[in-house]
Amino acid sequence: MFHYTQNFSLKNYNTFGISALAKHFLTVYSEEDLLIFFEEYGHLKNEKRLFLGTGSNLLFINDFDGLVIHPVNQAIRLICDKNGIFEVEVDAGVKWDHFVNYCVDKGWCGVENLSLIPGNMGAAPVQNIGAYGIEVESVITKVKGFDINLLEKRSFSYEECKFSYRTSVFKEQLKDQFLITSVVFQLSKKPKFHIEYGLLETEVNKYGETNLQNIRKAVIAIRESKLPDPLKVGNAGSFFKNPVVSEGTAEKLKNSFPDIPQYRALEGKAKLSAGWLIEKAGWKGRSIGNVAVHEKQALVIINLGQASGQEIFDFSELVAKDVLQKFGIKLEREVQLI
Ligand code: EPU
Repeated sequence: MFHYTQNFSLKNYNTFGISALAKHFLTVYSEEDLLIFFEEYGHLKNEKRLFLGTGSNLLFINDFDGLVIHPVNQAIRLICDKNGIFEVEVDAGVKWDHFVNYCVDKGWCGVENLSLIPGNMGAAPVQNIGAYGIEVESVITKVKGFDINLLEKRSFSYEECKFSYRTSVFKEQLKDQFLITSVVFQLSKKPKFHIEYGLLETEVNKYGETNLQNIRKAVIAIRESKLPDPLKVGNAGSFFKNPVVSEGTAEKLKNSFPDIPQYRALEGKAKLSAGWLIEKAGWKGRSIGNVAVHEKQALVIINLGQASGQEIFDFSELVAKDVLQKFGIKLEREVQLI
């Protein structure tokens, strides 16, 4: 059964720890809940909407003057087990890292590199979460949910999800329209590990053989050494995306800054490290008022305590402006502004 309330505090529903109110807040356990809710509260269908899991990738600048929908369904269902390939359907309210831990325990390979990413399952496909050389799209076969405009259930095949770097159809064309209620994964018992990213291999070797448990341990150790725990320090992970630029631009930058890290991206483009650009611009560890750039990973902006959303936003604009001035590169936000 759904739970509906008004003027609800979102302070514990965003990892930046910003105080903001939701005019309407709806908790749902199933797609049926949504149908029943809109039968009764049809007038709220045209309110502005926000789908919210744990709020680990957003920044509230103001109160939210609309309807927040918070799915909390919690099951993990095995739907197919054939020749060492497992298909499993996971509800939107399951914590992402709980699912990773579950897979590693079962010996299912595919999501171990994505250990310790904050947030709930429902958000994972929206921005195609990724880390240490893996993006979640590599193991997703279907995304299921409910179209609020049409008031009907729908299932998206992998192709229909239109995944690319930190985005999908759910973040673009169907933003605030399609609520994800479950995600279907295909995972495998056959080991196929990816430890070539950065220092991952070195870290895994510290624990012995290359297996699921040790990859998970290594990823957790690397993340904990660089990324602040949102339960202790308000933050939303990478504040900006890594910029993708033309090869020409990349080459010019390489001439001026020979040590600039560059990675191959699709269609002959190059991906730069926003963290490197921010660090080189002199912002790593720097603070203004209640906001700072994290001292161990410059892509992360942190709330030192009592910052408002506006303060964090203004600070991020200063950082982006400075990077634009120094390198001619426009940083795009990864976090969603509300
Ligand atoms: N770098 C610096 N200074 C910094 C940070 C990074 O110079 O302060 C340079 C270094 O050269 C480093 C390279 O950037 O070798 C890459 O750094 P890192 O491995 O920490 O990853 P990232 O590109 O900064 C991305 C994701 C992270 C993810 C890591 C690991 C984005 C926007 N961010 O960061 O994702 O954990 O890779 O795979 O793609 C997130 O999305 O919230 C997030 C934390």
